[in-house]
Amino acid sequence: MDQIRVCGGKPLQGEIHISGAKNAALPLMAASLLTDETLTLTGVPHLADIATLANLLVQHGVEIGMNGEGAACDGRELALKASYIVNTTAPYDLVRKMRASALVLGPLVTRCGEARVSLPGGCAIGTRPLDLHIKGLQQLGAEIGLENGYIEARAPKGLVGAEIAFPFVSVGATENLMMAACLAQGETRLVNAAREPEVADLAKCLVAMGANIDGVGTDTIVVQGVSRLHGAHHHIIADRIETGTYAMAVGAAGGAVELIGASLELIGVVADTLRAAGLTLDATDRGLHVTCEPGALVGTDVMTEPYPGFPTDLQAQMMALMSVAQGASMVTETIFENRFMHVPELSRMGANINLHGASAMIRGVPRLTGAPVMATDLRASVSLVLAGLAASGETTIGRVYHLDRGYERLEEKLSACGGEVERIKAAR
Ligand code: EPZ
Repeated sequence: MDQIRVCGGKPLQGEIHISGAKNAALPLMAASLLTDETLTLTGVPHLADIATLANLLVQHGVEIGMNGEGAACDGRELALKASYIVNTTAPYDLVRKMRASALVLGPLVTRCGEARVSLPGGCAIGTRPLDLHIKGLQQLGAEIGLENGYIEARAPKGLVGAEIAFPFVSVGATENLMMAACLAQGETRLVNAAREPEVADLAKCLVAMGANIDGVGTDTIVVQGVSRLHGAHHHIIADRIETGTYAMAVGAAGGAVELIGASLELIGVVADTLRAAGLTLDATDRGLHVTCEPGALVGTDVMTEPYPGFPTDLQAQMMALMSVAQGASMVTETIFENRFMHVPELSRMGANINLHGASAMIRGVPRLTGAPVMATDLRASVSLVLAGLAASGETTIGRVYHLDRGYERLEEKLSACGGEVERIKAAR
């Protein structure tokens, strides 16, 4: 397995191009199942998760053309065409690799009247059930069985609109059911819906495909079903999690970096949190300029919440940053039940972190020390890269396949700014 080697202590200077949002690209690719015409997506990031979902869609019968590599920083163009759905089963060996594969469930049921989708199984950060997806489809009239680890959904007469009130916010359930509702008969209301920008980006694309959706960006989304959707062209929004991650890299290493394609609006409350922590963030005509002076970092409390709150996908990175801030900070994780696996690894680098249930108390230390560490999940792995940037000496991170799921060319982007970050290829 490849490793990432980081030598800390060097400030970052230069610019980083922010890629298209992974968590927008995945549901957008699933939306191609809703029409027999071509959906063209631009700004698609080059990530393992994208390839995983592409493989799943191809076995459903989606033809996928990749129009050129595109300039390295502009992402790729994917043309997806589901003329015919040749198979409505999403098999375990593909779904288990990535939970977001469950996003084919709603589109398959509403387009074909049936779907057989493997339950993804848990993952490192939690059990991550699909009960809200299943209950919502039942409310839309689907008959659902759970057999042999598969969700068996049937709606031979099509789906019928309904009011679906979520007991708590779920990004994936909102996306799955919004897509299912597009071709249902009548009106569907999604109450307590997720308001993440990636949900809004999916809705924008669905409307371009002919869907009738109101309330996007609010907690109540109203869909009037239509008989069919057509093709469209859609450019994927920038990745706000990647933006926050690289902003925190500047905080960890010090320096000044322009994040091209980012915006203050996109990262929302994260900008306020990072400013409170001692970073400077200024909008530029190409994106966002981030600077952090030596010794400027101060402990800042964070609680993860659904959008527009602080995103859980930046929790691990924030904890790495706070490990070298002056003073203490409290990081509380309210979304996932097991998203502190980075703590033991950060502690091996000298971080002073104590866990109390869903909260971590962090007492900043002057400097971390480099060490061999192990990635456990996507965002934990990048928090170790940030810690390596803030540490003295060398940090080697194992199992970087976690990193490749969500960060495009990370070592190139950081090296281009003076960070000593390299990939050590495993002996084949
Ligand atoms: C999306 O996952 C993201 N993934 C996650 O990003 C992100 O952390 C999460 O939303 C929260 O923002 C993609 O968009 C591909 P949820 P999702 O449904 O949809 C529980 C990353 O690092 N829940 O909003 O799976 C669930 O277990 C990934 O890029 C149920 O109990 O998240 C969790 O505790 C990690 N039943 C909470 O709700 C359900 O039916 C929020 O989950 C659905 C969810």
